[in-house]
Amino acid sequence: MATRFIHLQGRTSSAVIEFTAQGVPVWRHWGARLGAVTSVPDWEDTAPVADFSLDKTVAPSALPLFGDGQFGPAVCLAHRAGKDWVFAPDFQVQHWGATTTLIATDAKAGLELRQSIEMDAKTDVLTLRTTLRNTGYAVLDVVWLASGALPLAPRASRVESFTGRYPREFVPDVQALGSATWRRENRRGLTSHDTPPLASVLGTGAGQHSGEVWSAQLAWSGNHVQSIDLLEDGTQLWMAGEWLAPGEVRLAPGGTLETPDWLATYSPNGRDGAARNFHAAVRARSPAPVLPRPVHLNTWEGVYFDHNEADLIDLARSAAGLGVERFVLDDGWFSGRRNDRAGLGDWWPDSNIYAEGLAPLAEAVIQLGMSFGLWIEPEMVNPDSDLYRAHPDWVLSLPGLDKRTARNQLVLDLTRPDVTEYLFERLDSLLAELPIAYLKWDHNRALTQAGDGSARPAYRQQVLANYRLLDRVRAAHPGVEIEACAAGGGRIDAGIALRTDRFWTSDNIDARDRAQIQRGFLQFFPPDRMGAHVGASPAHLTGRSQSLAFRAGVALPGHFGLELDPRQLSADLRYELRKWIALYKSQRDRLHTGDVWRGDVGDSVHWQAHGDEREFIVFVYRLELSRYAYPPALQLPFLDDTRVYRLSRLDPGAPFQRGQAPEAHCALQEGTLDISGAWLKTVGLALPQMKAETCLIIEGTVAEVGSTGRVGEGR
Ligand code: GLA
Repeated sequence: MATRFIHLQGRTSSAVIEFTAQGVPVWRHWGARLGAVTSVPDWEDTAPVADFSLDKTVAPSALPLFGDGQFGPAVCLAHRAGKDWVFAPDFQVQHWGATTTLIATDAKAGLELRQSIEMDAKTDVLTLRTTLRNTGYAVLDVVWLASGALPLAPRASRVESFTGRYPREFVPDVQALGSATWRRENRRGLTSHDTPPLASVLGTGAGQHSGEVWSAQLAWSGNHVQSIDLLEDGTQLWMAGEWLAPGEVRLAPGGTLETPDWLATYSPNGRDGAARNFHAAVRARSPAPVLPRPVHLNTWEGVYFDHNEADLIDLARSAAGLGVERFVLDDGWFSGRRNDRAGLGDWWPDSNIYAEGLAPLAEAVIQLGMSFGLWIEPEMVNPDSDLYRAHPDWVLSLPGLDKRTARNQLVLDLTRPDVTEYLFERLDSLLAELPIAYLKWDHNRALTQAGDGSARPAYRQQVLANYRLLDRVRAAHPGVEIEACAAGGGRIDAGIALRTDRFWTSDNIDARDRAQIQRGFLQFFPPDRMGAHVGASPAHLTGRSQSLAFRAGVALPGHFGLELDPRQLSADLRYELRKWIALYKSQRDRLHTGDVWRGDVGDSVHWQAHGDEREFIVFVYRLELSRYAYPPALQLPFLDDTRVYRLSRLDPGAPFQRGQAPEAHCALQEGTLDISGAWLKTVGLALPQMKAETCLIIEGTVAEVGSTGRVGEGR
């Protein structure tokens, strides 16, 4: 008979811990939703006895510790000057509201571990966090503390994470799980482009819309570890936590270490099911973004460092004429910043360019009916700056070592109160003096040799100090939206999402690369947080040229904007761009509040749908020419097969020509096409021949019974 089961239940998932008769918490299940957990055999009654192993069977505790009789990885590694390195804990469990806390205490070794686990029944997202307390009489050196440890069934066979670099974020990395440990470590001091703290594990046969997917992300903007180990019983243990530098955490008696939150979800509905759970959870946890999301113009690729007040006002006028709603002044506005070699830290408008400060530009922008945004990079300083000349000791560094610059900049030591006071004063004054609605908060380099004033590792404290600074700025200026940027998408995580409103997804605005980057992003974060701009053609970073329709069609689902100088566009392109902006405005509510589905037709066609099963928009992206005379059909698996859908073409791209495109597509663009949901779901809508790097946007709504319209069956 079961002694005690803790059943955390979501809409489509369950997580079950058994507190065994011997008082050990054991994971029994994390996967499909169970009804009541009754008539379940105890772990002890069903565990086989292993040959040539410990004579007394050791239950695989949910908080495995080194030396406890298990041989897998531990959630905590610590010691007291080389002693107290093995833990023999007593366990307890506490319930507080929706939170279950597993407590492991070892009075002899002098530590207490508390792991809180909470299932959000609305989103199926588990939040795990661990707190370690030093209950001994001497300093405890902490080597590792996991935020959580979750079980994966043996059928969880593939892990998908991401790698990349500036400016190729979210490059998928797929590995088969086996007996080798899967492990990703980030030691860059911020979230990183190459090892973001997130991954999905796929069950056998799982795909985009169906099958078992377990997905998790760490809410942390610093160093981290994710790992999956195969255990003796064939299950796999998934852990994540902060990566600690040697000597980074030394807990004084009574001291505590609290991990970042680890968010984890299970879905029986494939990758998209897990993504939808995360979209809901990230939205619920972080500040509600201001909806509708205004159309941006960001000046970076339009003018780079070439700032001139009259010219920028002219640029703003041109943007406003297109329907842009927010003008964001990027890098280059502050003292001495004529290029990327000087000025960071001196957060005053450059008087050679802005003789009267930024107010005339900001006011001109507001007069034009737009709001005003500003780029900053608070954590950074150029050696060539007044700030550094006055305070060379304000940077993270180690005595006797060269200070390594990256993009000609050093990192300020935010663990110093005088540094954060300075930064807060500067930001607070700018926000108080100018009508700023939005900050693009950048961080353009990784941390190396991040020593604080006592030459101790400061990585962790730096992240926490940044969070405090963000929180303080937000509290003082609650209406101001903040974008998290780090050389594009180097700081995209659920920790910074708690205190920012959107991410700059990448500096790579080439629509083809961007489509892949956004697809990875959307696995973990909702589209309203996804900064997505239309860049120039050819794209500055890849050199590829793409039609405006393709660039705009790829940017449209996110938080849409422009990253170009619209004055350089021909009258025809300006006319077309105005239509795209109007389309975004008419659809943004549905795009940013609905569900998201992503899929592949094959033959180099991807699709992405937003909305719900009654009303949706689907983006069809063709990357290469079809290799078929009749391209494969688009199936939309999320539709209701008892309905009829009325489809119409939404995008203002090149119209289909009668005689060259199927009659059904001409009908789509000229009016509507009614088509059975069952057909669309399982057979699909035939696609026309499309050029490479083109996009088709279709709206679908449930057609009223008996309505007139053309009923088609695709082909
Ligand atoms: C980073 C950002 C860019 C731009 C520049 C300015 O690279 O990702 O968008 O703001 O900094 O220096």
